[in-house]
Amino acid sequence: MPKALTLDDRLIDYLHSVSLREPEVLRQLRAETAAHPRSQMQIAPEQGQFMALLVELLGARRILEIGCFTGYSSLAMSLALPADGYIDTCDVDEETTAIARHYWQAAGQQDKITLHLGPALDTLKELPGPYDLVFLDADKVNYDAYLEASYKRLRAGGLILIDNVLWSGAVADESVRDPDTEALRALNRKLQADSRFTISMLPLADGLTLARKR
Ligand SMILES: C[S@@+](CC[C@H](N)C(=O)[O-])C[C@H]1O[C@@H](n2cnc3c(N)ncnc32)[C@H](O)[C@@H]1O
Repeated sequence: MPKALTLDDRLIDYLHSVSLREPEVLRQLRAETAAHPRSQMQIAPEQGQFMALLVELLGARRILEIGCFTGYSSLAMSLALPADGYIDTCDVDEETTAIARHYWQAAGQQDKITLHLGPALDTLKELPGPYDLVFLDADKVNYDAYLEASYKRLRAGGLILIDNVLWSGAVADESVRDPDTEALRALNRKLQADSRFTISMLPLADGLTLARKR
């Protein structure tokens, strides 16, 4: 078996230098978010670029995002949507999502993205779908509930993207027993056996599972 590649900072810098095509507005948003105390919550730029490619590959027009933060992932996907595409994004944080709104406006995407402030499980009751693509990136203990709610709202052949499935390696360390890690472990195991989906878990950034509804 080939030795697994560990991406250190030098290799990530190289990967960025030869493959990143980050629009200036996303670069600025990433720079502003870097100064935020919870900046590590933002997805990596190569993940944003990958998700934009998935939006194109899927011909997605209707996207649901759970976990907006300062809006990087929603903006990366929105820029890849056709003019009549849209994103419903959920978050509970007024302060970070104000930054998101600012950058959506700067990028001319404000009419394509609707922010729903409030606990996502409540918001979802008002969002029947259907959606072509769902991105799960909020509180980990509710991931299973988000998966089930998303499944009901996803068209056949649609895709659920689940972020942080490798959780900085904690999922593979049996001494780690906190609720977030346990929730991610349980969801990873569940998806492995879940015949409703075709799946692939990618070691991209903090781990991203692709689950396509059959
Ligand atoms: C990892 S961050 C999202 C990062 C974002 N996708 C990006 O690329 O920048 C997770 C977000 O989920 C939000 N969140 C936490 N609990 C939530 C809940 N119950 N309902 C909705 N959003 C929630 C947090 O406020 C936080 O902004």
